[in-house]
Amino acid sequence: MTTPFAPRVFSGMQPTGNLHLGNYLGAMVNWIAMQSTHQCIYCVVDLHAITVAQDPVALRRAIIEVTAAYLACGLDPKQSIIFNQSQVAEHAELAWIFNCVARLGWLNRMTQFKEKAGKDRENVAVGLYAYPVLMAADILVYKATHVPVGDDQKQHLELSRDIAQKFNMDFAGSIASHGFGEVFFPLPEPMITGPATRVMSLRDGTKKMSKSDVSDYSRINLTDSPEAIAQKIRKAKTDPEPLPSEEKGLAGRAEAENLVGIYAALTGADVSSVLGEFGGGQFSRFKTALADAAVARLSPISADMRRWLDDEGAVEAVLAEGSARARAIAAPVMREVRDIVGLLRSR
Ligand code: TRP
Repeated sequence: MTTPFAPRVFSGMQPTGNLHLGNYLGAMVNWIAMQSTHQCIYCVVDLHAITVAQDPVALRRAIIEVTAAYLACGLDPKQSIIFNQSQVAEHAELAWIFNCVARLGWLNRMTQFKEKAGKDRENVAVGLYAYPVLMAADILVYKATHVPVGDDQKQHLELSRDIAQKFNMDFAGSIASHGFGEVFFPLPEPMITGPATRVMSLRDGTKKMSKSDVSDYSRINLTDSPEAIAQKIRKAKTDPEPLPSEEKGLAGRAEAENLVGIYAALTGADVSSVLGEFGGGQFSRFKTALADAAVARLSPISADMRRWLDDEGAVEAVLAEGSARARAIAAPVMREVRDIVGLLRSR
């Protein structure tokens, strides 16, 4: 099927906790690069955050902080649309329509829901269950075609495609009779970020670096001081062997592989040249170089983030303007959806 859809990128992060090196190297670096090749819409998904209980004061602060991190990392509100989800009501509105398109059986297969709900399934919010439907609405209300996500979101993206396809099929007659062409929604493509930038916990090389890890030593936050960064890297788990000189020597050594991968990503070198330089040596020398590279890359970002956080009003202004631009795309799509479904337009 040739698609009549102009390429458009959409992605989002939840405003919960601080962004860390894993978010930066795994996601932001790609998001930033795509700004010069695509029209990009980057969202702070606050409606997703409230699928689990949030303290209102902390949530408000987190929305500002994640936005400040977006800006400090290099997302450019002149090039891209940067906004928070809840200011564009069309997300929630399309999500309701999609709740009536998606099937219970599809949602029952979502592994992230099973993990997040755990044993307490009867007692989690309905919103946590419907979360991937809202995610489909986020993407499709802009008819976005490309969605950079981590591999943990792949299943949700497949669900978005299923919803788009079912909507297109269920309403094919109405879509055609309104003159909206053959397919109304594109089937959004995941852009899965490469394995080279999968950043793991500093305490356990088999677990992803995560904002929800109880140990702050497991991650490097974008706001950490140079001293904190150096200390966390010094304490990072390793094994007693020296670093290998070749890539295959990293097999089965998750912590060593992670640290070398981080160094490579930070400096733009490839893993084999990093090992060429540090292989055979002790971890301590490598860790000093790693800490220097992390500080060099992150300190301008954290300084810029502090500047934004000193002026919350400026951050809010970016979100207000981005929301207006987002709404200008979403509102006409939503009006057409109402026509297609058979709902009356407001006058
Ligand atoms: N579910 C995503 C995550 O937890 C965040 C998200 C919400 C998202 N809506 C989206 C990502 C739409 C991409 C597109 O990481």
